[in-house]
Amino acid sequence: MADIIDGKAFAATVRKKVAEHVTRLKSEHNITPGLAVVLVGEDPASEVYVRNKGKQTHECGMNSYEHKLPADTSESILLALIDRLNNDPTVHGILCQLPVPDHINSEKVLNAISPAKDVDGFHISNVGLLATGQKSMVPCTPLGCLMMLRDRHGSLSGMNAVVVGRSNIVGKPMAALLLRDSCTVTIAHSRTKDIEALCRNADILVAAVGRPQMITGDWVKPGATVIDVGINRIPAPERGIGKMRLVGDVDFASASAVAGAITPVPGGVGPMTIACLLANTVTACCRANGLPEPEGLTA
Ligand code: GUN
Repeated sequence: MADIIDGKAFAATVRKKVAEHVTRLKSEHNITPGLAVVLVGEDPASEVYVRNKGKQTHECGMNSYEHKLPADTSESILLALIDRLNNDPTVHGILCQLPVPDHINSEKVLNAISPAKDVDGFHISNVGLLATGQKSMVPCTPLGCLMMLRDRHGSLSGMNAVVVGRSNIVGKPMAALLLRDSCTVTIAHSRTKDIEALCRNADILVAAVGRPQMITGDWVKPGATVIDVGINRIPAPERGIGKMRLVGDVDFASASAVAGAITPVPGGVGPMTIACLLANTVTACCRANGLPEPEGLTA
């Protein structure tokens, strides 16, 4: 049976480090990091995320600024808000919650955020910096995965890593981070041939495809570390009519019998994402003020 990587506990330690750094920034420099979160429309899942982000930002001693805009907000109004936040010295991080409504060009919006305040790491400048191994803002979910992998293995050098999924939010930046840590990296996706054999060669297997329980134990190399980024809601009739439950992209029961370590869903990668957003906000604040960056909270 694999070791369970407790993302909830790990996220709590990250938040504690963030809070300690915030306390020092306040007492030694009279600076309070600020995070602005912009939400357009009323997507219920996004509203839950945004509420949790605001709550945890406050709990770490930082300022949280929430901007909730109606679903019919024009692109130019949204861009004007981002421009204002870019120029607001009390705001060190800006995040525009995705998805945005169809009439808004998300790439245009993401690229309007000042790269130095881009705590999501989605701005094309940060993507390029990460791809070329330079200092950047790193997307939160892959950063959280990297922290857990480094915690388990120390050096990742020379390990075979397979990332299943090629999204801009997770798959591609995850692969870039693993490559930077000297893994041999393969990105697998829906067109990959013999994906199971490829995965069975992975010392590190990261699943980020959004397909419930796709990766089963026979895809996993014995002793491998499995990081499950998926959050999928599936019917759970055993819990009652109409009930749902959360599962990952990995079939936990079969994979955990083979893996050396595995992240559960829920309680694995999920809690790390917001913790890393808070970490990125402190990092952005330190960089903006020419101060040393918090140790252990960057990639
Ligand atoms: N929606 C789902 N995940 C994310 C994320 O990591 N960042 C933003 N901005 N929106 C999201």
